[in-house]
Amino acid sequence: MIFYFSGTGNSRWVAQFLSDELSDTLRFIPDELGTDMHYTLKDGERLGFVFPTYGWGVPPFIEQFIGKMRVDNVGYLYFVTTCGDDTGMTAEIFCDIVARKGWLCQLGYAVQMPESYVCLPGFDVDPKPKEQRKLDAVPDRMHQIVDDIVDGRGGFDTLPGAMPWAKSHIVRPFFNRFLVNPRHFKVNDQCVGCGICVKACPFGNISLADNKHPQWHEHCVQCMRCYHTCPHRAIEWGRFTRGKGQYLHNRD
Ligand SMILES: Cc1cc2nc3c(=O)[nH]c(=O)nc-3n(C[C@H](O)[C@H](O)[C@H](O)COP(=O)(O)O)c2cc1C
Repeated sequence: MIFYFSGTGNSRWVAQFLSDELSDTLRFIPDELGTDMHYTLKDGERLGFVFPTYGWGVPPFIEQFIGKMRVDNVGYLYFVTTCGDDTGMTAEIFCDIVARKGWLCQLGYAVQMPESYVCLPGFDVDPKPKEQRKLDAVPDRMHQIVDDIVDGRGGFDTLPGAMPWAKSHIVRPFFNRFLVNPRHFKVNDQCVGCGICVKACPFGNISLADNKHPQWHEHCVQCMRCYHTCPHRAIEWGRFTRGKGQYLHNRD
């Protein structure tokens, strides 16, 4: 069974690839939130998690989901995180989260994919050649991951990058506290009130106000799907997204 989340489609592609190759069931985490979140694995069934790296760690809502879910008969457990650059100590953070459930994470991988974070100065989507280079490297990496999972191997290859401790233990708390905030979303005068962002939000967190402009409610995880999906390039987060690019995996 594979639990996954994806904002702009990278992790969705990875999760779908694993599901196809391993014949394991896929479950999209936002769809699971309204259920009893109680799962029973068959003997020998693997438990996988696929998610984007956010702020050099596991996105807080993934941590909350894992904290609340109940899974019977857990054996081999792995994760794959997609990232634009590097993941800091995401592997250690994930292992701690599942250890609190009494589970052991055997395998962890990071897969570098096109950048989706645009909310701070210096962060933008990748230029097209870089985007293509990253996408070209993904299939080989995925075959390596599938081979490891099929053989039940252990180990971690998670692209920690430079200064992983500082990123995950100093920058990350600041990031989660101050930079994950739906109040900074707004629209510019390109907004035509089409409501595409309302349908795109994986958490149903956006509605249209009386003036037909979107309003963001409190359950935003900052996946940026609304920003990247808007066909009119009308959504901004604070003032730092002005003039920046958009990305969706395969226009997913
Ligand atoms: C809120 C947010 C935080 C991010 N933080 C990181 C990060 O710490 N390190 C990194 O390499 N990429 C980071 N990224 C980029 C994404 O991890 C990367 O583009 C990922 O593949 C997106 O996956 P998705 O398409 O499944 O949503 C971040 C993206 C967002 C939206």
